[in-house]
Amino acid sequence: MKTINANELSPLQLQNYLQYAIAPRPIALVSTVDSHGNVNLSPFSFFNLFSVNPPLCVFSPSRRVRDNTTKHTLDNLREVPQCVIQVVTPDMLHQTSLSSCEYDKAQNEFVKAGFTALPSELVKPPRVAESPVQLECMVTQIIETGDGPGAGNLVLAEIKKIHVSEAVLSSEGNGIDQTKIQLAARLGGDWYCEIRPENLFKVPKPNVALGIGVDKLPEFIIQSDYLSKNDLARLANIEVIPDADIIEKLKVEYQSLIAGFSNADLDSGVEARFWAEVQKLIRKDEINKTWALLLSCQECLTVSKI
Ligand SMILES: Cc1cc2nc3c(=O)[nH]c(=O)nc-3n(C[C@H](O)[C@H](O)[C@H](O)COP(=O)(O)O)c2cc1C
Repeated sequence: MKTINANELSPLQLQNYLQYAIAPRPIALVSTVDSHGNVNLSPFSFFNLFSVNPPLCVFSPSRRVRDNTTKHTLDNLREVPQCVIQVVTPDMLHQTSLSSCEYDKAQNEFVKAGFTALPSELVKPPRVAESPVQLECMVTQIIETGDGPGAGNLVLAEIKKIHVSEAVLSSEGNGIDQTKIQLAARLGGDWYCEIRPENLFKVPKPNVALGIGVDKLPEFIIQSDYLSKNDLARLANIEVIPDADIIEKLKVEYQSLIAGFSNADLDSGVEARFWAEVQKLIRKDEINKTWALLLSCQECLTVSKI
């Protein structure tokens, strides 16, 4: 691997590594006003949700690398510490990019980018009607992380009101449906990506229980040449290895699958087919079935290895 001392790279060179690697980043489309009421709208991908109690977002209008000047968003927040943060969907991306142009301070980027302004309920900056989630925020702190070109200004924005489009709400009425809200995200340079339902998957994670861990898997599984470390982690995300009683029940449930392997003389061809099946089941997230197959055929495997 190439190893780089961060302090030997210029801010521009650092961007070429860090913005490509720390990606995708969510995009905040932030509206602010100055003390005269001039409206500003700009996107920021140095942005994230920071906590829920209190509900805080952070983003960073950095000092310009080119000439070390500060951005209108930051100047406005110092005058009026309020903003609206809106999420960005793929169908708003070109407008969002256009709003990042360095227009004069008096120029309203809602107009330039063709966004529709909606009055906010609590804060002075207006909302972007096209965004499915608009967060009215009070800015509680701005932390300067330096004073040179590219230095960050960490804005802590406390969310006071959440406006959500009905179209992205779950039918159970308990918040947003992840498959309905399609978001755009920023990567390095001019690269972007979008979240579509077909790209989504779940990783089951027991919240209260502890997975046994890869180190506690039976040795014959750890030693398998056919499973990746990631496959092992999926198997190890169970609280206990199924005991004999459970295995007996699983054997009945999956008997036809197991019969294909357990009585066989596991020569190398059959063994490869066995592990391919295990891998397939793991990747289909059929973990119980995988354990049934693994533990039912464990002896045959051991014998065939000898
Ligand atoms: C998708 C996207 C994300 C951006 N993220 C940031 C960021 O996190 N920090 C930043 O300082 N500039 C970022 N920029 C550039 C600013 O939007 C740009 O400098 C803008 O002119 C600032 O406007 P202002 O001076 O009106 O605040 C981003 C631009 C785009 C298109």
